[in-house]
Amino acid sequence: MALELNDYLASRKAQIEEQLPLYLQKLHTTEDLKSAMLYSLQAGGKRLRPILLLATLHSFGKDESPGMAVGCAIEMIHTYSLIHDDLPCMDDDDLRRGKPTNHKVFGEAMAVLSGDGLLTQSFDLIASHPDQKVTPLMKIELIRELVKAAGAEGMVGGQAADMEAENQKLNLEELLYIHEHKTAKLLAYSVKAGGILAGADPLEMKKLEEFGFHLGIAFQIKDDILDIEGIEDQIGKPVGSDTANHKSTYPALLTLDGAKAKLAEQVEKGREVLAELSLENTMLEQLLELVAIRDY
Ligand code: IPE
Ligand code: IPE
Ligand code: MG
Ligand code: MG
Ligand code: MG
Repeated sequence: MALELNDYLASRKAQIEEQLPLYLQKLHTTEDLKSAMLYSLQAGGKRLRPILLLATLHSFGKDESPGMAVGCAIEMIHTYSLIHDDLPCMDDDDLRRGKPTNHKVFGEAMAVLSGDGLLTQSFDLIASHPDQKVTPLMKIELIRELVKAAGAEGMVGGQAADMEAENQKLNLEELLYIHEHKTAKLLAYSVKAGGILAGADPLEMKKLEEFGFHLGIAFQIKDDILDIEGIEDQIGKPVGSDTANHKSTYPALLTLDGAKAKLAEQVEKGREVLAELSLENTMLEQLLELVAIRDY
């Protein structure tokens, strides 16, 4: 019997939020730095990336518990990317996860450093994974894939391309490059990390990566749509930030209707890839659909 999506989301979000601060509270560092790191990490958010990882294990009929530390590591990297994304030198936003952005509370220097702290700490969560079933080889693969997804060849590279594309008119291929790198790679990693922990075979890993790619592109198209159509209280960040920064987005290039058509296309492709994996339940499909219909 498939678990209700909403129950699944609520229960996993609660588990993740219980674990996340525990990894930081024991750190020996300055109180200001720790407070700044905890502030953004505990501000809320959908926790979609760790949930995707846990849902992948669930879909393979596996125990989800080894996924928790890796999911928290991804959430730390994601949170650092948001802190830096909001800085005045980047998107210059004042609201995140319904709260003042990190630099508004702690100042720019501490915001940069709290991002650096979250990024670096995330690798220790994987390297020090306490579960014996997560072998040293699995840890190395998890870390190497995370570096590819989050670093200069992944999210950081996408963020650089996003900054360079301000005030530019890109073609669709160039825009896809940005979306793939700044957003889809880390979301795809979340699914792939679940596959690594579930012992997925190479063909399954390839399908999971493809699925994550389509889900990730859909996710960023929807994010761009919500920047226009969203409600600030629901999305927890300012509406109109992309327009103010002259960002290259799907709605800017294709109009809102064109962007919505592309979103539907990506969801359909994701669904097709998923059908080729004979998974035990529909949790990943439900998460893919949620990405497209969400209003937060
Ligand atoms: C926002 O990510 C940044 C993008 C990659 C579009 P989320 O929409 O997942 O942000 P939170 O974690 O829920 O706050
Ligand atoms: C940023 O995309 C993606 C990241 C890697 C943080 P956006 O700049 O559109 O994210 P939001 O809308 O500020 O969350
Ligand atoms: Mg940005
Ligand atoms: Mg932004
Ligand atoms: Mg956005």
